[in-house]
Amino acid sequence: MTPSVQQIPEDTSAAVPEKLTTTTIKETPKVKRQIEVEGGKTDAKHPLYLPTWNHGQKYPPLEPFTHIEHSIGASPKFPDLLPSGSKIQKLTPTIGSEVTGVQLSTLTSAGRDQLALLVAQRKVVVFRDQGFADLPLQEALDFGCYFGRHHIHPTSGSPEGYPELHIVHRYGAPGTSEFDSFLAGRNSSVSFHSDVTYEAQPPGTTFLYIFDSPETGGDTVFVNQVEAYNRLSEPLKERLHGLRAVHSGFEQAQFSRDKEGVVRREPVKNEHPIVRTHPATGEKALFVNQGFTRSIVGLKKEESEALLAFLFNHISRGIDYQARVRWAPRTVVVWDILMRDFKNRVTVHSATLDWSDGSRRHLARITPQAEAPFETPYAKPEKEANALP
Ligand SMILES: [Fe+2]
Repeated sequence: MTPSVQQIPEDTSAAVPEKLTTTTIKETPKVKRQIEVEGGKTDAKHPLYLPTWNHGQKYPPLEPFTHIEHSIGASPKFPDLLPSGSKIQKLTPTIGSEVTGVQLSTLTSAGRDQLALLVAQRKVVVFRDQGFADLPLQEALDFGCYFGRHHIHPTSGSPEGYPELHIVHRYGAPGTSEFDSFLAGRNSSVSFHSDVTYEAQPPGTTFLYIFDSPETGGDTVFVNQVEAYNRLSEPLKERLHGLRAVHSGFEQAQFSRDKEGVVRREPVKNEHPIVRTHPATGEKALFVNQGFTRSIVGLKKEESEALLAFLFNHISRGIDYQARVRWAPRTVVVWDILMRDFKNRVTVHSATLDWSDGSRRHLARITPQAEAPFETPYAKPEKEANALP
């Protein structure tokens, strides 16, 4: 049978980290800086956001924390988020909205609460014409920490002095970035995932903002995992309830080690329910993803692999519950991971590596963690529940 996380010897799932500690080592730790890779000068629009990789940064295991879900109790009329003069438009019927006429960085607490609710409802929301990328880095982080404790990514590059900022960066000739290593052995770059679901408390309301992008290409695709759940038959939904899956960060850490990248925190595995409930909307969502979900607890290997393969295929081919976000300068995308790759609780996402002219694609992600995933019991649809025997 597929072992539970508790049976896996290398498991270090007991804790979730907190404070940055820099290891005391005698030699100066190796630090790789993108600006140096580019010869000390760059045409990046926001050089302060270029990644650095500091091999001396080591973080202890994460520790549990109490998450406050700001979307609960927020006004569903969004008076502080969408004042008169702003515009909101659906990207697709089931997922995604685009907003103009709002500056995220000036939102009051009430506006931020309503933002969390809007994102929970629409799964991914695209804000255009934002000044967010021009804020001092610490101000951007101060804005994001309202939504939860900042996650420090175990293997990502980050701006010097700001380890909480996760940088997504591809630049230069094909074959020179980690994305190209990933793509080398594959036919397609599509890999739907929700960010860092191996953590005991994966991210919730998540922000991604862009600095540089190719003229076309590099879109991000989001999947509505609530709709992916809704599309399943009732017998399969019922069977999935109560099942838990193992999510692992070990492969990601090994990938980084193999490329002489950083591993700032030792990898963990955690179990989460396969069907997760959103604390604000009560909606149920599939919570498995190709990036990090490895096996289903209690099933034999072949059973686990077959069921996960079905679910991954179901998620990735559901164009009727996906939204494709095209990046433009001054765009901020907010999603609810319940993920991905955007809000991480209810969506999964995938990058699209479809450009090969060496153009820079450079973004930053703010990734506040949320509650430990929980599930509520299966409920028959009302029609069936009320049917006479
Ligand atoms: Fe992602």
